[in-house]
Amino acid sequence: MKPEHPDLLAALRRSLLSALPMDRQALAEVRFDRHVGALVGTLQALYGKDDATGFDGWLGELLQTIGQCLAARPAELLALDEDRLAHPDWFLQSRMLGYCAYVDRFAGTLDGVRQRVPYLRELGVTYLHLLPFLKMQAGDNDGGFAVASFEAIEPRLGTMADLDALTAQLRASGISLCGDFVLNHVASDHPWAQAALRGEARYRDYFHVFPDRSLPDAYEAQLSQVFPEVAPGNFTAVPALGGWVWSTFYPYQWDLNYGNRAVFADIAKALLGLANHGVEVFRLDSSPFLWKRPGTSCVNQPEVHLILQALRAVIELAAPGVLLKAEAIVPTAELPPYFGSGEARGHECHLAYHSSLMAAGWAALAEQRTDLLARVIDGTPELPSSATWLTYVRCHDDIVWSTLKPEIAAGGESFSQRLTPVSRFLAGEVDGSFARGQAFQTSAEVPVFGSNGMTAALTGLSTATTDDEIVHAERRIRLLYALALSFGGLPLIYMGDELGQGNDESDAHAALRDADGRWLQRPLLDTARWIARDRPGSPSARIHALLRELVQVRKQLPMLAADQPRRRLTTADPSLLVLARGDAFVAVMNFSALPKTLPLSALGDIDNSAPWSDAFTGQAATAALSLAPWDLCWLVRQP
Ligand code: GLC
Repeated sequence: MKPEHPDLLAALRRSLLSALPMDRQALAEVRFDRHVGALVGTLQALYGKDDATGFDGWLGELLQTIGQCLAARPAELLALDEDRLAHPDWFLQSRMLGYCAYVDRFAGTLDGVRQRVPYLRELGVTYLHLLPFLKMQAGDNDGGFAVASFEAIEPRLGTMADLDALTAQLRASGISLCGDFVLNHVASDHPWAQAALRGEARYRDYFHVFPDRSLPDAYEAQLSQVFPEVAPGNFTAVPALGGWVWSTFYPYQWDLNYGNRAVFADIAKALLGLANHGVEVFRLDSSPFLWKRPGTSCVNQPEVHLILQALRAVIELAAPGVLLKAEAIVPTAELPPYFGSGEARGHECHLAYHSSLMAAGWAALAEQRTDLLARVIDGTPELPSSATWLTYVRCHDDIVWSTLKPEIAAGGESFSQRLTPVSRFLAGEVDGSFARGQAFQTSAEVPVFGSNGMTAALTGLSTATTDDEIVHAERRIRLLYALALSFGGLPLIYMGDELGQGNDESDAHAALRDADGRWLQRPLLDTARWIARDRPGSPSARIHALLRELVQVRKQLPMLAADQPRRRLTTADPSLLVLARGDAFVAVMNFSALPKTLPLSALGDIDNSAPWSDAFTGQAATAALSLAPWDLCWLVRQP
């Protein structure tokens, strides 16, 4: 903030403090001094140009709202904030493990989730991402991503009191709750949209509404499509609005107009409200789409980052223990700005999905070739301290292939030529393919878009019948999870993977799948498998045990913490991937259907002077590593 504004600064300080009891004022003053510059600077750039009318007064109101949220923050969360500020690397440690699930699929209700906390602990989970649980649009709602209220829980899933009880129990168990915060759009039955439909000008301005097709057509020329088949186009005709509303995703998900400062203020308030119910991490859904600019693709615009930095400053003032996670499914090279760049480096999101790494892992499995993976790893930038990647194998969405375009172009290849066979392989359409997934949104014009399917289906476990087939599929699962667990980030298990659960083929959900193929990977937790996880030799027990072993071994290895250095080592064999973490850890991963032998001396430039041992067995490594098909090896040594 410019120093020539001492009066504004003093007024803002008063606004913040006016909302606070005496015993929280000193704390607020410290935070104000530290973060008001970022807050005002970003908001001025977004909304304060040309002395916009009432900007200073609006800022004062915002500070007052932030003060009210800080005043309302439960003492236990205030203590958590202080603890997190004292240990800003808490989420980077190798003890961290994420788990992601839909509330209803996993446990019916929020209360059901609370009853499954012991199960999560048994798995080693420290971070639980529950997919949308706020009140959602009635009927179609994109799995809850069409939010009808930021202040209420979806009645089917529980109440705010249930959320409070759940977050309290999770905290007591050392698990942080991550919730989706859908900030790009609201459902067409959200009160803001309903007010716009009733003709209230204030709320019409919360959306991008166009009286005719001229601007939408001009925009469409540059925009891409998220769901080209199930929801083509980015605008929806709404007669009651007298025009077309911007809807990047489904027609009932209306993009918010962040050019309107009132939207920012309401969203910031909603975020802090949920933080005060104990949500510790916010998955900022569809972050790249927040700002529209004519003549551009309207993704990743600079203003997106100003908005996210402003939200970060809001968090720093009222709930600094909270983390922000960017859901930006874009090429790796476009991700660093989500962590803040230039002076704002380290002052935006704490986490972002590494979706290229995930997609390249699947491509490597399909192709038995690791060059794309290697390019992704080599091109993964250093992050600011106290920030890291979300590493994962599967999630509720499709595997989005477009994130790999730069890596494929770097190899001089055509995107579609390279990835069409991969997509077809994962759909089981290629001779010899073990996978049983499905292509998503792929058409004659767009031959490769996304792939759906649970890990067990894509790795061949679901259809394996012989012992060999089962062992091979299990190794493939272990291989991909080992990559996510050793890469350096916060690794995530997707519900059902730990039990080897396959695609949802239930009749009950057939209509959902017909409408949107992503429901293939959203099954109900298979209780038979769940119960059998403790029965030695049962299919789920084997997968459960192998994942738990990876997790437990990782927890013992501080060099696998997210902030420890990572380096890929070159090998002559195109189906091997070798990753070093610091000087005392090397992972060798075999993406081939053939056994491999690799002399330790061939491991690039690593220092072999001290003896290596196998992290799983503790046995000394031999001079040459032998890896079975799809096998992997974690070598460690005393530093
Ligand atoms: C995110 C979600 C996806 C949803 C979309 C629209 O990408 O992961 O499931 O459809 O946002 O909210």
